[in-house]
Amino acid sequence: MMILGIDTSCDDTSAAVVEDGRRILSNVVSSQESVHMKFAGVVPELASRKHMEMIWPVTSEALDKAGTLLADIDAIAVCMGPGLIGSLLAGCSFAKALAYANGKPLIAVNHLEGHIYANFLEPEPPEFPFLALVVSGGHTSMYHAVSPGRYIEVARTLDDAAGEAYDTVAKILGAGFPGGPLIDRLGREGDSSRAVMPRPMRGDRRDFSFSGLKTAVMNFHHDNPEIPVRDIAAGFQESVVDVLVTKTVREAERLGLSTIALSGGVAANSRLRERFAAEAMRAGLRLSLPSISLCTDNAAMIAAAAHHHFMDGDFASLDLNPAAYLPLGISTD
Ligand code: KG4
Ligand code: ZN
Repeated sequence: MMILGIDTSCDDTSAAVVEDGRRILSNVVSSQESVHMKFAGVVPELASRKHMEMIWPVTSEALDKAGTLLADIDAIAVCMGPGLIGSLLAGCSFAKALAYANGKPLIAVNHLEGHIYANFLEPEPPEFPFLALVVSGGHTSMYHAVSPGRYIEVARTLDDAAGEAYDTVAKILGAGFPGGPLIDRLGREGDSSRAVMPRPMRGDRRDFSFSGLKTAVMNFHHDNPEIPVRDIAAGFQESVVDVLVTKTVREAERLGLSTIALSGGVAANSRLRERFAAEAMRAGLRLSLPSISLCTDNAAMIAAAAHHHFMDGDFASLDLNPAAYLPLGISTD
């Protein structure tokens, strides 16, 4: 069973063909980095225009690389949110037109469920139930993943997402755009003990908060101009990673879950992967990590998540509307 997945939630145009929800036949991602670089951040209007230009070439390349024709595809899955509304509209309109013109069923996928399902594209996927930590540019949440399609959000950020903090800190330190990978690299060369940062809400609370940490970095940089930015990047990174790892391991133990599955752009972070591997092993937990290219936005994860919707007969109608705000599952609050 082959699903064509499409994701245009933010600034990457992506299309992929995935077989049986597990095997990637193609996964094409066209980055808009060069478009947004001079603004040091994503400009929504430019992003949606670029999606409209790239969506067909990217989809056609995904079909070619998979060695398949649209006629052989069983369903078209599209990310319907959360994300930038103009960007989502470009992908959803395209997917609806393609489904209608080719008589294919349409499946609507929540981007956050897509991130979680990146784990199912690896050779040894997690077994339900597990604790999913989604750490991206727009979200930082923990979900008790009970079964396919059933998620309970047990913690979320009260302000900024971890990825957003990475991007802002990169701007503060003059590291460039996109911030996450640059701070990752810079931080590895630095000495975190020369710029120790606060650990926001590391105590018993389950929720996260990262906005105060950005201010702490800004003030530290201002007050200590002699400290190299690589040391500050290391100190910031150590704080984010420490908070994420500590809270997630504690929550898995509280819920009696034996597996933690990471996902989202920040899960590509080398220090985060290293610390999670060590702490999960220490706590006797299994850790599931998507490969780095599947952590950041891609359409293979959308097609992977769509598989269980297909099996459940959960199809979208052709009047599907995307949603910029779209929570996943139910919340504990
Ligand atoms: O999941 P994603 O591609 O898009 C969203 O759904 O938001 O995540 C993008 C975020 C950005 O904030 C980016 O800076 C961050 O993930 N990111 C990283 C790394 N690679 C991407 N953050 C830290 N270390 C990285 N290596
Ligand atoms: Zn994402």
